[in-house]
Amino acid sequence: MPFQVKTYEEYKEAYAHSVAQPEAFWDDIASHFQWRKKWDKTLAWTFTEPNVQWFINGKLNITENCIDRHLPLLGNKPAIIWEANSKEQQHVVITYSELYEQVNNFAQVLRNNGIQKGDRVCIYMGMIPQLAVAMLACARIGAIHSVIFGGFSASSISDRLQDAQAAHIITCDGAYRGPKDIPLKNIVDEALVSCPFVKKVIVYQRTNKPVNMVAGRDVWWYDELQKVTAQGHQPIAAEEMDAEDPLFILYTSGSTGKPKGVVHSCAGYMVYATYSFVNVFQYRPGEVHFCTADIGWITGHSYIVYGVLCAGGTSLMYEGIPTYPDAGRFWDIVAKHKANILYTAPTAIRSLMAYGTAPIEGKDLSSLRVLGTVGEPINEEAWHWYNEHIGKKNCAIVDTWFQTETGGILISNLAGVTPSKPSYATLPLPGIQLALMDEQGKEMTGNNISGNLCIKFPWPSILRTTWGDHERCRLNYFATYKDMYFTGDGCHRDEQGFYRITGRVDDVLNVSGHRIGTAEVENAINMQEGVLESAVVGYPHDIKGQGIYAYVILEQSHEHEQGMQAHILQNVTRIIGPFARPDKIQFVKGLPKTRSGKIMRRILRKIAEGDLANIGDTSTLLDPGVVDDIKDGKV
Ligand code: PRX
Repeated sequence: MPFQVKTYEEYKEAYAHSVAQPEAFWDDIASHFQWRKKWDKTLAWTFTEPNVQWFINGKLNITENCIDRHLPLLGNKPAIIWEANSKEQQHVVITYSELYEQVNNFAQVLRNNGIQKGDRVCIYMGMIPQLAVAMLACARIGAIHSVIFGGFSASSISDRLQDAQAAHIITCDGAYRGPKDIPLKNIVDEALVSCPFVKKVIVYQRTNKPVNMVAGRDVWWYDELQKVTAQGHQPIAAEEMDAEDPLFILYTSGSTGKPKGVVHSCAGYMVYATYSFVNVFQYRPGEVHFCTADIGWITGHSYIVYGVLCAGGTSLMYEGIPTYPDAGRFWDIVAKHKANILYTAPTAIRSLMAYGTAPIEGKDLSSLRVLGTVGEPINEEAWHWYNEHIGKKNCAIVDTWFQTETGGILISNLAGVTPSKPSYATLPLPGIQLALMDEQGKEMTGNNISGNLCIKFPWPSILRTTWGDHERCRLNYFATYKDMYFTGDGCHRDEQGFYRITGRVDDVLNVSGHRIGTAEVENAINMQEGVLESAVVGYPHDIKGQGIYAYVILEQSHEHEQGMQAHILQNVTRIIGPFARPDKIQFVKGLPKTRSGKIMRRILRKIAEGDLANIGDTSTLLDPGVVDDIKDGKV
């Protein structure tokens, strides 16, 4: 593979070169892609506005890099292998030639339905190959996709549709997830009540359950495809995109109640997603890469779809959940398809650990070469279990750190090339200049220190803006520390210079690898009739990493009402989605507030963690007495 670093020495050289001459470094990597027109200038940037541009005036289409250019050599090789939720259903293999045809045909469907370059298209589907086809078809015609994770509620969809002003939706009748059948189209219908600007809904039939089709607005995927294929297979010309044209929007949670639409560009994202894929996993031609993330998150965008396909790889995609029909399902899939790389979340590992080793017995996992984790810190126990029972101490383990905003993995060991250390993401990839900052805004030098993690220099797949609100992007990421991108994470650098992510330092929770803003959960709780106020914090949870603990004050007239807890949970499910439901709810009479009215979350976190002895100074509180009441009522 081009631009693959092969030894620790080569890594050190590449890193040094990337810092000394970033433009020359990325020029060389970008030259391995297919461009319609080469760029005039590699980089222009300032973090003050912010304004970052890579490969300026370069022209390309990412789908030509993901598909077309592989056809001569890899046409008959599998691009996507899909394993259904049910074990009984036959798996599907889509070769690069077939993917080419499917993407072209569906791109024509999108055009026939009035979608043009720059239009925002919302994709709300289950984990089926058509989801990848839909994304690539959007990219082919230059439409900006916004994939929404299938666990989000109608109200979350409607917020995102309104924010992006997306007039087109691609969805399914329903989605299978383990024993559940999620009625996606019904959820979309509910979302559309408040989105009259939506013109078209294209519906793929997966579950064949009856759904409501609105005449003139809703069309079937299959019917639309028939109209195209009836005219013969005419590949459509991919739209010529500017390097800096937006490729997609992906909404993610921050400290405020409103999710932000992170915008990624066509060229920079493509170059970095591919570079990081090839290097972190040390991908070898012909290998099967099994990433268990949902495509609705950045991991799925970069390491199921774009990075893997751009590298000409084989992406193994699974519709269901790790424990269906039993806790051996991942291992069955690995054995069946001889997966070489398994990339999953610590939460999945912890939940499977709880079943012991019986589900692994008799499963041939000898094809595995690399094991990856992502999304949250991995505890040492889970790391060792993964290493011993899945990797049989024969696999490289990569702990990969990144964010929706970074587009690709920024900190990770490179499988078998650079050293690994349990619970450490270890070293930055070439091109990534890290800084740890202290509370006063000064960069901390030396080793064996902890601070807030920032990045000093742009990399190609840094977010370009937050959709419709550039100032918000500046305030969120570029205003805390001068001339730095602030990640929102705390981080430790050990004696050897290895990095260990310690978790968020802002009001963002990481529950089973899902990023959720405390303010979002609070807003949802507060919408329940009878709730006066609430405060949400995270606490350590054995399986989920973090659990959600909600302190709720009820209005006096509702204090004795039955079923408030259940109503609150229903409301959170309705407004955000089931994954954001609090694990614990404590009804309280008051919240610890400063005299200026700010909630002291530090105190609430300590109580939720059960660390009652270390609550600290409460004398500055408006009413220190509330703390004892809350401690007494801890659930
Ligand atoms: O706190 C970090 C955590 O997940 C956050 C990013 O969440 P999201 O944008 O949803 O992307 C998740 C998938 C990349 C980060 O700010 N995080 C991600 N990877 C790791 C991690 N924490 C510790 N170790 C990791 N490997």
